[in-house]
Amino acid sequence: MSHHASFLKAFARNSSQVGAIVPSSDQLAGLMIDWLDWDSIDCIIEYGPGTGVFTEAISKCISPGTTFFAIERDPELAGITRQRCPEVKVIEACVSEVAALCQAEGREKVDAVICGLPWAAFSPELQDKCLEAMFEVLPPGGKFATFAYWQGLLLPAGQRFRKFLKTNFSSVEQSPTAWKNLPPAFVYRCER
Ligand SMILES: C[S@@+](CC[C@H](N)C(=O)[O-])C[C@H]1O[C@@H](n2cnc3c(N)ncnc32)[C@H](O)[C@@H]1O
Repeated sequence: MSHHASFLKAFARNSSQVGAIVPSSDQLAGLMIDWLDWDSIDCIIEYGPGTGVFTEAISKCISPGTTFFAIERDPELAGITRQRCPEVKVIEACVSEVAALCQAEGREKVDAVICGLPWAAFSPELQDKCLEAMFEVLPPGGKFATFAYWQGLLLPAGQRFRKFLKTNFSSVEQSPTAWKNLPPAFVYRCER
């Protein structure tokens, strides 16, 4: 089955968790990662790799010895990312467990989080739970990249998430739009 078909199937299983009907484009993957100083990254994690578009891009940027693992809740999508990027550890779990997962990997803190979660489809409670857990492992200076669809800004959850970022990060920049993405999207590039 193609990645697109597997993704659509995952959306049918759980639309609010997957939040999109097709995987992100290579163009969006580039905007997620091209602002980071890769030489300064010793530990990076990915949230919600889906079929592994960002995972593959991150793998190409990290140096040997860098700690990198991904956290994916959907077992079928986790399996696809493992097949696509066999060198990457993909843990089947909820990102709200990130502190315990980092400890199990021998890391208290991470330098960056690359995130594919559909924040605008999350309830306020789930947004808070995931963001509070992330702040346990992302220290001041840590980087956070997450994308948003333009139409998601019309939703209260999308607005709430945007406000949260502006209040809780020392810097929040918006990337150019990935017009080739379906639907078009941009990246919030944040520094704690
Ligand atoms: C919008 S899709 C993005 C997938 C991929 N990063 C991309 O851009 O094509 C969201 C992904 O996050 C995963 N996900 C949603 N909630 C999660 C959670 N609480 N913990 C871990 N993964 C989660 C979904 O299963 C899905 O794979």
